[in-house]
Amino acid sequence: MIITIDGPAAAGKGTLANNLAQKYSYAYFDTGMVYRAVGLEMHLLGKNMEDKAAALQIAQNLTFKHMHELAKNPDFRSSLGGKNASIVSAYPEVRAALLKMQQDFALSPVFADGTPAKGVIYDGRDTGTVVCPHADVKFFITASAEVRAQRRYQEFLQKGMKADYNEVLADVKARDERDANRATAPMKPADDAIIFDTSDLSIQEVTNKACEVIDEKQSC
Ligand code: DC
Repeated sequence: MIITIDGPAAAGKGTLANNLAQKYSYAYFDTGMVYRAVGLEMHLLGKNMEDKAAALQIAQNLTFKHMHELAKNPDFRSSLGGKNASIVSAYPEVRAALLKMQQDFALSPVFADGTPAKGVIYDGRDTGTVVCPHADVKFFITASAEVRAQRRYQEFLQKGMKADYNEVLADVKARDERDANRATAPMKPADDAIIFDTSDLSIQEVTNKACEVIDEKQSC
């Protein structure tokens, strides 16, 4: 079983993906990590984010092991990390270089400890449209920019990171703009995706709705 969850930043994709991965014992692939890894490596090497050739070289050499190493860096999940990921993810060559790595995961999905899983949950922007167009169930999760900025702002505070709500909101809007309007694999719902607007839903309500869809699919 392959399930994809796409949508804008801070819509609740990660939490939903984790909940579903736990409930069904499926592996989870947060595909934003591949772009965050390239952006962070660029940053650590002092490269300008506009340097497409450098981004491509890093993308071509990226391994799961190195990506997980980079994920330990506090900048990996920061606002800057998200912004840099969004910039490098707009380069078609970078996306092409990272596609196989993402697609191959579904061929033999594994948990973090390496044990095999019977299914996989992907989350990202183009997982239902480009990475796994043949997925069994596709969700597109969204919410208003203000609600998403508020959630992201609270997350930063809870992690003890400094944050300013208006800056977070501006970041969220800029990222939406870039992710939705790039020429290659723009963020958009797949034609057969089920769309949930989570602005007025709790994560439990969203999870319940998603489970209903998956359970129905599994009983077919
Ligand atoms: O989901 P995230 O915030 O970790 O993603 C960081 C950036 O990576 C996002 O702004 C756009 C890019 N991305 C993408 O282009 N395609 C994906 N499947 C996942 C993320």
